[in-house]
Amino acid sequence: MNFSESKYVKEMCEITANMYRQGWDERNGGNISYLLDRDQVREFFPIEKQIRKIELGFVADEIVRNKFFLVTGTGKYFKNVEKDPENNLGLVKISKDGKEAGLIWGFKDGGKFTSEFPAHLMSHAARLKVNPKNRVIMHTHPLYTICMGACLPVDEKEFTRALWKSNTEAVVVFPEGIGVLPCMVCGTTEIGQATAEKMKKHRLVSWTNHGIYGAGEDIDEAFGLIETVEKTAQIYMLTIDHVENVIPDNVIIGLAKLWNLKMMPGVIKEK
Ligand code: 13P
Ligand code: ZN
Repeated sequence: MNFSESKYVKEMCEITANMYRQGWDERNGGNISYLLDRDQVREFFPIEKQIRKIELGFVADEIVRNKFFLVTGTGKYFKNVEKDPENNLGLVKISKDGKEAGLIWGFKDGGKFTSEFPAHLMSHAARLKVNPKNRVIMHTHPLYTICMGACLPVDEKEFTRALWKSNTEAVVVFPEGIGVLPCMVCGTTEIGQATAEKMKKHRLVSWTNHGIYGAGEDIDEAFGLIETVEKTAQIYMLTIDHVENVIPDNVIIGLAKLWNLKMMPGVIKEK
């Protein structure tokens, strides 16, 4: 079977098309990286295959070296991935020294991985140390999440509280809360390091005035986290200034107890 028809490429095609339809990924907005196992790659390619080398521009953490990532290309549009995966996606292997990536498949027009690859690889490394089953890092530009970040102080407890108090699903889906970064220059090693630092405690990180990152064991988990934040942010933004009923603290605590969840401390005061 051709790798273009593989389950992994299909999953990437479906999710990018879905995210585009949500209105989250205008133009080239958004990027996804998906960690594949050696055996999953070996099914399609000789393990030493390399079309060309691409410099990373930073030194990747040991935990992601020699690992394979299916990743969206820089400047590529999510709306186009489905009709031309081999141009818009690439499969790369991170080198032994962590300085470059070997291209195995894709980026056919000479392209390369997303400009946010530092944030992706550093976030993969951070999440793999917390959960060895983590495979997906997803970045996107959802409208209401960005609006909400613009209306609140850059404070993860306040952001988390506002989300938890707007939608009863929120605390259940992300009891560890959401990490928040101030507005920074994107596509840099610095924003990558800052994102990965937040990823040590959170599967979600908001980039103020830009978008959001989600991490998960699979595409469904990463997407589901972002989808829940975005729905909740929509509720928050549509009710802001005329809200009558927010979720009482005792209901949030009750939900966490019911589902046996460890809540981010300091967000809701236990009485
Ligand atoms: P890329 O086209 O390089 O993936 O960048 C898109 C983006 O969302 C930047 O944050
Ligand atoms: Zn972006």
